[in-house]
Amino acid sequence: MSSIRVRSLTYDVPGKRILDNINLDIESGEILSIMGQSGSGKTTLLKLLTGLRRPTSGSILIDDVDIALLSEQELDKVRLKMGLVFQYAALFDSLSVYDNIVFGVVRHRRGVPRKELDATVDSLLEEVGLPGLGGRMPSELSGGQQKRIGLARALAMKPSLVFYDEPTSGLDPITAVTIDDLITSTRNHNQVTSVVVSHHLPSIFRISDRIAMLDKGRVVCAGTPTELLNSENAAVQRFIQPERGALTQPDARI
Ligand SMILES: Nc1ncnc2c1ncn2[C@@H]1O[C@H](COP(=O)(O)OP(=O)(O)O)[C@@H](O)[C@H]1O
Ligand SMILES: [Mg+2]
Repeated sequence: MSSIRVRSLTYDVPGKRILDNINLDIESGEILSIMGQSGSGKTTLLKLLTGLRRPTSGSILIDDVDIALLSEQELDKVRLKMGLVFQYAALFDSLSVYDNIVFGVVRHRRGVPRKELDATVDSLLEEVGLPGLGGRMPSELSGGQQKRIGLARALAMKPSLVFYDEPTSGLDPITAVTIDDLITSTRNHNQVTSVVVSHHLPSIFRISDRIAMLDKGRVVCAGTPTELLNSENAAVQRFIQPERGALTQPDARI
């Protein structure tokens, strides 16, 4: 169980403020989605939360430890709590599904018996709904299956936090729903705190306990899906309006 507290977080690149005074609480075991238009700063925020970028100012408390103050070595330890399912963290094409899943485990815990690795892979493939596919190569899998294996690889490290960047992008609507369901079941089974970056509204409203809306590098609204739907913030309204009908249906599945 892990929580995240973001306080007065700012991130600048030369000549430009990318994130501006972000304050955000992500509670233990919840699914929080960060939504917003392309270019609003979602991926940058995720990179800061996972320690891949350093803030210009402000703090990021992970279980009360400010990762902005840590050395690289200390940060590496905190990052063992984190599972990353990112667009660019693709599977290694030259490794089997099995070897992809155990990659981090083998690197961080040398000498794990083969039997234990086998059991880990079996149970993770079961968990992500792809039992028995350990011998396949990534090129033999569909896009949706590759995302599932990416999640299995992240879960192999037994993270208490899982971060997803655009997990349903590039997937057809039916497959997107199955990935949404997997994010929810992963949270339910493993009690992981989940942070999902997405601009796909149906997914966000389907899976989130809470949603934070980013606009031009600022959090303009944070709350439950119902609170977002009822928000009078103009940026939230503009973003939601085109799909509002589908989101307010009792079962907005697709
Ligand atoms: N290293 C960088 N140098 C310059 N601009 C950057 C850098 N990283 C991100 N940006 C800019 O920051 C803004 C937010 O980008 P990003 O976080 O990728 O947004 P999103 O994920 O919401 O599409 C964009 O305008 C992008 O061009
Ligand atoms: Mg992005």
